[in-house]
Amino acid sequence: METNHSLNTLNWSDTAETGKMRFLIAICLALFSVACAEPVKFIDCGSAEGKVLTVDIHPCPTQPCQLHKGQSYGVNVTFSSAVESQTSKAVVHGVILKVPVPFPIPNDDGCQSGIACPIQKQKVYSYVNELPVKTQYPSIKLVVEWELRDDSGKDLFCIKFPVQITS
Ligand SMILES: *[C@@H]1O[C@H](CO)[C@@H](O)[C@H](O)[C@H]1NC(C)=O
Repeated sequence: METNHSLNTLNWSDTAETGKMRFLIAICLALFSVACAEPVKFIDCGSAEGKVLTVDIHPCPTQPCQLHKGQSYGVNVTFSSAVESQTSKAVVHGVILKVPVPFPIPNDDGCQSGIACPIQKQKVYSYVNELPVKTQYPSIKLVVEWELRDDSGKDLFCIKFPVQITS
């Protein structure tokens, strides 16, 4: 009975309501296409000294992210720090068949990658950097593991996300 009642109140043929819904959906679609940052699904691989809030890779319209050789991808990791740190250093690996292989990035200094150092406790930071995909990389699926280490070498964040390298 309860179900019938609520179904009746939800009157989809009511044109004003349908119009409103359409308008809201249109707004959402417009906002989505304007926002170029795409949050990706990630695994936290042990952010001992911080907490990851969002990870954006762009462009990455479908997941896992397709990384085209010869292109560079924007990475934006927003995290809060649980510690103070003068420095921060990024360490990136490509994990291929469970074996981590160093993934070189042009600048591994987190303090030159969107973070105003010294890092303060309980503050939110966005680490912003580029992931260049070299033309000589093989076309394989792998997991990117991205760490940002503090003064003591512990991880402010450690994230993992799958990618597909493609031509
Ligand atoms: C990084 O992501 C955060 C959270 O989504 C956002 O507020 C910030 O503007 C982004 N920074 C850049 C440079 O895209």
